[in-house]
Amino acid sequence: MTTGKKAQSRDPNPEESRRLDTAVIQRGLRTDMIGRSIHYFPEIESTNAEAASMARGASPEGTVVIADAQTRGRGRMGREWVSPPDRNLYLSVILRPDRHPDHLGIWTLGAALATARAVRLETGLDAGLKWPNDLRIQGKKIAGLLIETAIQGPRLTYLVLGIGINVNMMPRDFPEPLRTEAGSLAGALGRTIDRNALCRTLLRELDDAYKTFLGGHSGDLLKAYRLQSETLGERVRVQLGRKFLEGDAVDFSDNGGLIVKTDDGALQTISADEIIHVREDRAARR
Ligand code: BTN
Repeated sequence: MTTGKKAQSRDPNPEESRRLDTAVIQRGLRTDMIGRSIHYFPEIESTNAEAASMARGASPEGTVVIADAQTRGRGRMGREWVSPPDRNLYLSVILRPDRHPDHLGIWTLGAALATARAVRLETGLDAGLKWPNDLRIQGKKIAGLLIETAIQGPRLTYLVLGIGINVNMMPRDFPEPLRTEAGSLAGALGRTIDRNALCRTLLRELDDAYKTFLGGHSGDLLKAYRLQSETLGERVRVQLGRKFLEGDAVDFSDNGGLIVKTDDGALQTISADEIIHVREDRAARR
C-alpha cells in the first residue's frame, strides 16, 4: 500500500545502529592501563589478529582494538565467532604481564569475571560463568573470551585478550545451529543496549581485575569467580587426548584449573579445556 507521503527514515533502534565511537567510550573512562589507546575498525578480519600484529610491533600494554564487524572472528577450539555488523562488541586488549605463563589460567577466569561484572553494571543481568570463560544467561551463551599468547622460553612476550559479547543480536541473526545455544543481552533484557557505554564499563572492570591479578590478589578473583560459577557442582565430561574423563566439578585450583572428582574418588585438575555439562547435554539430546 502507498500513502503518497514520503517514507520517513525513522530509526527503530537508535542504540543498536549507533556506531562504536572511541571518543564516547573514552569519555570519563579513567583507567590506568586498559583503553588509554583504542583503535577502531568499521570492519576487520579479527580484532585478535590485528592486536597480535600490533603487539609484535611493540604497541603498549592496554592498547585496545575494537570493530563493528569481523569477517573471520576467531572462537575457541578453532571455531568461528559469528560477528555481524553493528550489533555486538568485538574487542581485543594487548597485555604484557610480567608473569610465568603458568599463572595465566587465573587471569582467564579474572577476565571472564570482569566481563560478567560489566554486564551486570550496564544491564542488571547476572551472567553465570561456565568454566573457563563462557558467560551464560538463561542457559544461553552470550559472551566468550579467547586468550592468545606469544611465549619465548619461560617468558610471555605478549598476551591478546579477545572478548566477544552478543549485545543486540536477535535469534534471527544467528546461524540455525547456534540458535538453541546462543543468546544475547538484548534478547534476555527485551531492549537494545548502548554498546559504547557497555564497552567503557568493560574496559574499567578489566582494568580493575588486571590490577588485582598483577597485585598478587588472584585469590580474590577466584573467590568472586566461584560465586558466579555454573560449573561447580555439575557433572562434567572432558576429552583428554583420545580418552574421556567424567566426574563431578568440585573446585578450582589456585592456577584456575578445574578440579574434577572421578567416580573412584581420585581428583584430577584440568586446564583450559572445553568441558560439557553432562546434565544439559542429556537434556539437549532428549
Ligand atoms: C569463544 O569461542 O568462546 C571465544 C570467542 C572470542 C571472540 C572474540 S570477538 C573479539 C576477538 N576477536 C576474535 O577474532 N575473537 C575474539
